[in-house]
Amino acid sequence: MIDTQLWQQAAEDIFWYQAPSRVLDDSNPPFYRWYPDGVTNACFNALDLQIEQGRGEQVAIIYDSPVTASKQQITYAELLDRVARFAGALAARGVSSGDRVLVYMPMVPEAVIAMLACARIGAIHSVVFGGFASNELAVRIDDASPKVIVAASCGIEPSRLVPYKPLLDEAIELADHKPEACIIMQRPELAALLLPGRDVDWYEAEAEAEPAECVPVAANHPLYILYTSGTTGQPKGVVRDTGGSIVALKWSMPNIYNVAPGDVYWAASDVGWVVGHSYIVYAPLFNGNTTVIYEGKPVGTPDAGAFWRVVEEHQVKVMFTAPTAFRAIKKEDPQGDLLASYDISSLQSLFLAGERCDPNTLNWAMDKLGVPVIDHWWQTETGWPICSNCLGIELLPILPGSLARPVPGYNVQVLDSAGQQITDGSIGSLVVESPLPPGTFITLWNADDRFEQAYFSKFPGYYETGDAGFIDADGHVYVMSRTDDVINVAGHRLSTGALEEVLSAHPDVAECAVIGVADAIKGQLPLGLVVLNAGVVRDDTEIVAEIVASVRQQIGPVAAFRQCAVVERLPKTRSGKILRGTMHSMADGEPWKLPATIDDPLILDEISVTLQALGYPPGTDGLS
Ligand code: COA
Ligand code: AMP
Repeated sequence: MIDTQLWQQAAEDIFWYQAPSRVLDDSNPPFYRWYPDGVTNACFNALDLQIEQGRGEQVAIIYDSPVTASKQQITYAELLDRVARFAGALAARGVSSGDRVLVYMPMVPEAVIAMLACARIGAIHSVVFGGFASNELAVRIDDASPKVIVAASCGIEPSRLVPYKPLLDEAIELADHKPEACIIMQRPELAALLLPGRDVDWYEAEAEAEPAECVPVAANHPLYILYTSGTTGQPKGVVRDTGGSIVALKWSMPNIYNVAPGDVYWAASDVGWVVGHSYIVYAPLFNGNTTVIYEGKPVGTPDAGAFWRVVEEHQVKVMFTAPTAFRAIKKEDPQGDLLASYDISSLQSLFLAGERCDPNTLNWAMDKLGVPVIDHWWQTETGWPICSNCLGIELLPILPGSLARPVPGYNVQVLDSAGQQITDGSIGSLVVESPLPPGTFITLWNADDRFEQAYFSKFPGYYETGDAGFIDADGHVYVMSRTDDVINVAGHRLSTGALEEVLSAHPDVAECAVIGVADAIKGQLPLGLVVLNAGVVRDDTEIVAEIVASVRQQIGPVAAFRQCAVVERLPKTRSGKILRGTMHSMADGEPWKLPATIDDPLILDEISVTLQALGYPPGTDGLS
């Protein structure tokens, strides 16, 4: 049962040009619509409203970039000025309400400015993470068909510059859809060549633009599209609406994260991911906080004390990151010696999400930081937490491995494969009773059918999260694994289907499988197994090197795809389904049963030998 009173009250806390007369339209499930007749604007709520309420001189954004050795503070008033101008620059290029704008940028304030500028004029942004290569970018360009693309000339990784502009040019070449203009932010580290007639310089465009006012939009007008991995190679374009997002994100700040306007809030993620959209950009600004944009890594920029330096220097009150970042810090600074050299007394709590947090890492973080460490569960689809210890409501006991309880608005249950509710604490599919609360996805871009089919068809009346887990007798929720072919590499969600498409495209490959294998730092890493075409006489090492290079080129370095082996055959069921789950269990050293439907059990022995040669399960070859 949805608590309409809660969401009615929460809606009263935001600015509406026209307040909604109804909280929920549930006439067309699963296409529920929150605040159906409300009219608002996300940029107005993030900036103009804050300034009206007296926060003009408060710092809105702290940009801290160890990779460029630069720092900058931008007040709400300055941010509004830049956003309004950039919105004018977009409008001058024909962008109007409902048009899409693709943003391909690193962690710089301009990425946030571009997003808010779109929201200001009702344009729908689609931010693509900088670690994706041209092919992935091209797929997103074709799906979102942006009128304008906004990009930076380069990204900066600790070990190298990433030339974004050539990647963008190649993506536009590959895509069927062509943007009318590209606005390029030139960075001093690596300037890009601009294509006359299509490309314009960001700073020139911003300087000559007339500031644009906010365009009132319907509550259900899409705020953004954010692509995420699904089972197939075609990414899912998660669509978030405007009114529900403002209400839910603003509500979450005091209630889940326990932050008040004026507090410094830091989500150490990337604007290319959902955490970045919700908790680097929108929620902190809707709540009048100061948000930190950190262009660096947890380790290596320059060391494992980097996060603590940022906390001390900017007086961060609440921090949010992925467990993988903590595993990396723990590996470099196990005793917390670097941590001890900073004053982190401003820190009130740490939130973790994006992947399963192993109890070891959680305990280590809690012990070293001396503040509550909250593991909370959410997804690109939901946009904000499904389960969490809600610090602004009540601090529940912290149980390592558990995500505490469902957040108000989510009725989480565990179902068996027949759709029956499991109440004895055993593992099943984690689902959420429909309707989902405000701020969750309203559809998939250009794919209403896929939205219905992928998420609402298996268990009628419920949203299928794609995660498996259990709920204990006290109502604490545990997420254990995915139920589909999605893997989680350093908190980044990847589709094994998309990786397999690249492997199969190699001319010598007959068939292949990609599985996720456990990794001490990144949580999981992809591992490929390929069967070669009959008659191929080339050296396996050469073929594997080509495959590794093509994944890097087509998906991007973020896939961290380095492990691949040639095998004679892949294990399959009699109906021809590759037994990825069994191979995954073998690689991770988990107990597994010989599937009753297996075609030829001997193949598993061959796979076991190959996995051992690669070091799986860890310890079997004495190397890992
Ligand atoms: N643009 C271009 N390339 C990028 C990139 C970006 N924005 N982000 C990562 N990459 C590249 C890296 O340079 C690296 O390339 P390499 O193969 O040449 O070394 C590759 O993608 C993998 O990067 P990453 O996942 O960052 O691994 P890493 O080994 O460099 O660092 C960690 C390991 C744990 C420090 C890092 O993964 C991390 O900080 N993770 C936190 C993740 C996170 O915040 N997730 C958000 C979910 S809440
Ligand atoms: P993404 O959409 O990229 O945020 O990835 C969402 C997926 O990450 C979820 O479906 C889970 O599989 C996983 N995930 C996110 N947060 C957690 C968490 N706290 N514990 C376990 N898994 C998580």
